Amino acid sequence: HGIWAVIPAAGSGKRFGGEVPKQYLEIAGRPLIAHALDALLAHPAVEGAVVAIAANDERWPGWTSRCGKLLLRCTGGAERADSVLAALRALPAAVAGDDLVLVHDAARPNLRQDDIARLIAAASQHPDGALLAAPVRDTLKRADAHACVLATAPRDGLWRALTPQAFRRAALTSALERARVDGVVVTDEAMAMERMGAKPMLVEGREDNLKVTTPADLALATYLLSL
Ligand code: CTP
Ligand code: MG
Repeated sequence: HGIWAVIPAAGSGKRFGGEVPKQYLEIAGRPLIAHALDALLAHPAVEGAVVAIAANDERWPGWTSRCGKLLLRCTGGAERADSVLAALRALPAAVAGDDLVLVHDAARPNLRQDDIARLIAAASQHPDGALLAAPVRDTLKRADAHACVLATAPRDGLWRALTPQAFRRAALTSALERARVDGVVVTDEAMAMERMGAKPMLVEGREDNLKVTTPADLALATYLLSL
């Protein structure tokens, strides 16, 4: 079975600010999206990737292959989940319904091979799929609209969901379609699957697989990539 990667890259990076969408900012001589793509395509089990880009994107370099593997593009949508669904629909017809798809943010440039390997191993064994995640380290506060603490939330059993997230193509496609029909904005693939009753497996991933959201994150990602 071949595994395909899906890269949502149709965001505008509002929280980051600036004119260039963050996925096109360069660290170590390559844009973030190239780091994200190349990490996935370097894995021997990954056959190719579909990238979802914004309809008005003038910066997409037009790559049709990288690392000797096929690269397809499609037009993303208004929410991240819309972009992922568009990319799933653009997968080659040869991708089977029970083949695994790895969904990974274009804004996560620091993905390591050992995390990909452990994720694929877990998702292959687990019928409901798997995602990289990291245990919450800080004490969590619930606050009101004025930032006054209401309560401390128990941290045990709480994880931060990272990407990639690995699910079977047909199950993920119908879960995302269902969330859209229900008018629910899902912020990751696992959330769409959970709504269908799935219990995906958490695979503890490296803390340095960070999503670049702000300029400070970009500086941190640059440093972490240099290690
Ligand atoms: N994304 C997407 N389509 C959207 C929104 C987001 O493909 N409609 C992608 C982004 O390009 C990014 C990933 O989803 O690679 C994670 O989203 P996020 O970090 O929120 O990026 P942006 O939405 O671009 O940033 P912001 O929320 O600050 O505007
Ligand atoms: Mg966003």
